[in-house]
Amino acid sequence: MTRAQNASNPAKLTPHLGLKHRNTFGLDAVAELAYEIHSPEQIPAVMSEIAEQKLAWRVLGGGSNVILPSALPGATLLIDILGQEILSSDEEAAYLSVGAGVPWHELVAWTLENNMPGLENLALIPGTVGAAPIQNIGAYGVEIGEYIDRIEAFDVKDHAFVTLPKEACRFAYRDSYFKQNPGRFIVTKVVFKLPKAWQARIDYADLAKQFPANANASPGPEDIFLAVCKIRTHKLPDPKVIGNAGSFFQNPVIPNEQYETLLKSYADLVSYPDLPGKRKLAAGWLIDQCGFKGQRMGAVGVYENQALVLVNHGGGTAEDILGLAKCIRDKVHDKFGVTLQIEPNFF
Ligand code: EPU
Repeated sequence: MTRAQNASNPAKLTPHLGLKHRNTFGLDAVAELAYEIHSPEQIPAVMSEIAEQKLAWRVLGGGSNVILPSALPGATLLIDILGQEILSSDEEAAYLSVGAGVPWHELVAWTLENNMPGLENLALIPGTVGAAPIQNIGAYGVEIGEYIDRIEAFDVKDHAFVTLPKEACRFAYRDSYFKQNPGRFIVTKVVFKLPKAWQARIDYADLAKQFPANANASPGPEDIFLAVCKIRTHKLPDPKVIGNAGSFFQNPVIPNEQYETLLKSYADLVSYPDLPGKRKLAAGWLIDQCGFKGQRMGAVGVYENQALVLVNHGGGTAEDILGLAKCIRDKVHDKFGVTLQIEPNFF
């Protein structure tokens, strides 16, 4: 008998589990061995078993930022750790501990219902709480790293539970210490710090448009939540209806000199300020300019309302998606001299 089976509350193990409904691209994928993790305590025994049997392994949360191959050999850990609790709340801030398997949008809605605003700009992002810090999810001028106090995780290398304070997480645009060290940590809980001093953050152009400056009342958290839901519903496809993984490419950051040169040829180039000496370009605009918006390539394509999103019209495979991504990357590189980086993880 293996150690995982010996544990008092072992993780459920299912061989040959279909994951089509567990990835937002809707790709047909089968996990050779799927472990359902409902509590952090189940992880050490599972990881011992994986090490003993020298299995390949990976973690799957909501499957909203992954491109799955048709067969996933070895072990796939399905992180279903639920639950959220208010650890403390004083005049300065509320501290919340949230299980890695909690759906992200449900958490955002719950914080607002319980009078703890701050996360409203991040409404309707698919995926789980545990996946959110890996790529430091961000939208409409806010990144999740700003609201994280610490992360509880299992450190696979040291076979021990660890708590990483925010500073150790090295959050940056769509980046973190976890992303830089793939296979090292399994996030179990995220502790959020939501300051009581709340301010509307509506500078981002698309969001600002929803709140005319001459309006009588300034928007509250609930208004922003609804506005963000409205924009996202319009611009981004609902994964339940059409398979996708949100933005497929990161917005590329280029040196100022290259930006100035491009601007001479493309006066309407969309870009944002970035670190000193750098400029971030809107990848969606670059792809749109290459004529890809709404195009299909077999079962996959580019979403009609947002060129940054690749979609699976049904029956597409990881190879189809990567084939289309290659066409887009090549064309954008030829036209603008800019290399796009793929955002979702390819297992
Ligand atoms: N644009 C086009 N054509 C397109 C798409 C965009 O011209 O087909 C232009 C838009 O007009 C706009 C600019 O490009 O001027 C930027 O587009 P948008 O405001 O839609 O934002 P984005 O850069 O495409 C980023 C995030 C999204 C996030 C939004 C809102 C990345 C890679 N993506 O998209 O994140 O929701 O900003 O903050 O940073 C995600 O990561 O899955 C995601 C959806």
